[in-house]
Amino acid sequence: MALLLYHLLLFSLIFNLTTSDDPIGQYCDNSFTNKKLNQSINAVLTDLSTKASIAGFATSSSGQGLSLVYGLAQCRGDVSTEDCSACLTNASIALPKLCPSEADARVWYDYCFIRYNTKNFIGDSDTSFAIILYNVENVTDSEGFDEEVGSLMRKVRALAVKPGNGEFGRGTSVFNPFITIYALAQCTKDLQPLTCAQCLSSAVEKFPDYCTHRKGCRVLYTSCIVRYEIYPFFFPPGLSHGESGQHYLMTNLHA
Ligand SMILES: *[C@@H]1O[C@H](CO)[C@@H](O)[C@H](O)[C@H]1NC(C)=O
Ligand SMILES: *[C@@H]1O[C@H](CO)[C@@H](O)[C@H](O)[C@H]1NC(C)=O
Ligand SMILES: *[C@@H]1O[C@H](CO)[C@@H](O)[C@H](O)[C@H]1NC(C)=O
Repeated sequence: MALLLYHLLLFSLIFNLTTSDDPIGQYCDNSFTNKKLNQSINAVLTDLSTKASIAGFATSSSGQGLSLVYGLAQCRGDVSTEDCSACLTNASIALPKLCPSEADARVWYDYCFIRYNTKNFIGDSDTSFAIILYNVENVTDSEGFDEEVGSLMRKVRALAVKPGNGEFGRGTSVFNPFITIYALAQCTKDLQPLTCAQCLSSAVEKFPDYCTHRKGCRVLYTSCIVRYEIYPFFFPPGLSHGESGQHYLMTNLHA
């Protein structure tokens, strides 16, 4: 059983999401001592934050031999160029500090994601590490809620793998007169549709273990993310895109 290979690692903590400005989490691996690699990393990060600020997505590489490094940056599919650019600027400054002298570094923000690695990962799906965030509160009327979330997730996943949608899908579903569910699914744009579909499917497979009855939940993989809330967290509809005072529990999973 693949699930048996997962161990709950390190921590589950209460995560108070009042701002979209702070990193949600990071992954660091493979420490190095090569000073030249630092230069390549800086070059890649500068290139990524410039290119991806405009396009919402970019890959890059820099250096040669042992100092060759690959990078990828992507913004959430619904954020503006301004928010994307601001997020990537912060992320590219923060990442080498979060993972000093680590050759495999990744950081997740609400609006963007950035990573680099000395191994070429472009085009490969990575579901070996997950950050799972779920609301500490449950919906009060939970009868049929998880089924409704499941069917909305199928819809947004289908949108994300549909050619032309930029590997991004979002949608809403009216569960009852008091609860509307908002959901999104997104893969990094270097993935093929089939690989994207597999990544999203394995993300949603975590829902029964962590998200049952939850008011909100997200599974953040390196190659794809899925999320739902019962408030409008994405753009448009241009109302509040985040609700302060929501408490989430965070769990990191390593394969
Ligand atoms: C970037 O970081 C600065 C300083 O920490 C913060 O004030 C700002 O809100 C951040 N912006 C984004 C988009 O993360
Ligand atoms: C690389 O640069 C970071 C600062 O960005 C520094 O903390 C680290 O020690 C440097 N590593 C090496 C191997 O030079
Ligand atoms: C929410 O529902 C889950 C799944 O039934 C349960 O394990 C958990 O204890 C509930 N949490 C609260 C705060 O009621």
